Amino acid sequence: MWLKHSTIETRIPLMMALTLVTVSIGGLVEIVPLFTIETTIERVQGVRPYTPLELAGRAIYIREGCYTCHSQQIRPFRDEVERYGHYSLAAESMYDHPFQWGSKRTGPDLARVGGKYSNEWHAAHLINPRSVVPESIMPGYGFMQRELGYADISDHLKANRAVGVPYNDEMVKNAVADLEAQANPEADSKGLEARYPKARVADFDGDTRKISELDALIAYLQVLGTMVDFKTATPENLRQ
Ligand code: HEC
Repeated sequence: MWLKHSTIETRIPLMMALTLVTVSIGGLVEIVPLFTIETTIERVQGVRPYTPLELAGRAIYIREGCYTCHSQQIRPFRDEVERYGHYSLAAESMYDHPFQWGSKRTGPDLARVGGKYSNEWHAAHLINPRSVVPESIMPGYGFMQRELGYADISDHLKANRAVGVPYNDEMVKNAVADLEAQANPEADSKGLEARYPKARVADFDGDTRKISELDALIAYLQVLGTMVDFKTATPENLRQ
């Protein structure tokens, strides 16, 4: 046996060929079973695609590079869970293309920032962080009080649908109407709430004259980490 081994070890091409065979078997054993299951992400109750307004806010979050200072991933360690809440589930970012997990925490993790502060706080904080957190080093984003461009929002839904987010034709068709309804508490938001359960309707930035980039970004921040109800969740009823 050991003598035969030396035949392999002294013939490099033979050793390379046999190494390749061994590694391929290992790879096949690990990868092939995954083809037989529909998804590697366990579905979780409550997780829904973003509303058009939240999606527009997410686009601004990416455009401004908020991920360069903020992560969106609570790791399952005690210090993280005590500070930020329940650790992140894979399903919570299943409709994120691309996901915003990040790895840099100049500022705090934002995976569960939804509902932590009021809309007014977010508007004041984004316009000038120092107005609410005097020692903050976060840049101000006052220019986001400008109007949000959303004429192409249904294309954003379609692009997400192309990569697997379950936006149906009705959602795509009503994208502009749903976006406007979410930013206006006076509007009829029944359609929006039927399509996107528990969507928060509000004038997020407190300026009723227009739909601003702040409206979209705050709508997005306020939904982060709130889709799964961890108060009533148990491992059994979490699954859909
Ligand atoms: C240069 C780094 C930096 C960038 C870029 C940045 N932030 Fe921050 N952010 C911070 C720091 C530091 C804090 C903590 C101090 C504070 O609350 O202002 C913070 C705090 C926050 C908080 C409050 C979190 C909490 O739990 O208290 C939110 C929300 C937030 N940032 C959102 C954003 C958004 C949205 C963007 C992009 C438009 C952004 N940040 C860009 C550094 C940054």
